[in-house]
This record gives sequence, C-alpha cells and structure tokens, in this order.
Amino acid sequence: MTDVRITVSKNGSLKVEGDVPLYDHEGNAVETREGRPYYLCRCGGSTNKPFCDGTHSKIGFLGAEAAVEAADRSEGAD
Ligand code: FES
Repeated sequence: MTDVRITVSKNGSLKVEGDVPLYDHEGNAVETREGRPYYLCRCGGSTNKPFCDGTHSKIGFLGAEAAVEAADRSEGAD
C-alpha cells in the first residue's frame, strides 16, 4: 500500500503527498512533479487550477473553520 497524505492548510491549499495521480474533469492525466508534493487550490482564486498559485493569501481566503469563526463574530457585532 502506498503512503498517501493530504493536508488541509489553515487558510490555503490542500497539500498532496505520495504517489497520487491527478486527472482533469475529462479523465486526462494532469502532470505533477514525480516524487514531490503538489498543492491543490481550494479557494477558487488560482489562475493555475487545479494547483494553488498563492492567490489565497492575496484575497484573504479563510478556511472553513476560520470563516465560521469570522461569521460568528460579525453576527454578534450588532
Ligand atoms: S488555495 Fe491557494 S490559490 Fe487557491
């Protein structure tokens, strides 16, 4: 069995480690750097999807946990 690890960063990408093939929506293989981790965008802002290009930090993307905390704070601000 291959060791695979996917790590959700706090307010950014998904880090994929291990021998994990990546395919586009039509089933075509997407090239990744063999033996190196790759980072998938989860903010929707990358211009290099499906990969993260760092845009998440420019647009102030908040991961789910941080977004819920921020929403809870703003609800109580009235
Ligand atoms: S998560 Fe990094 S650009 Fe979207």
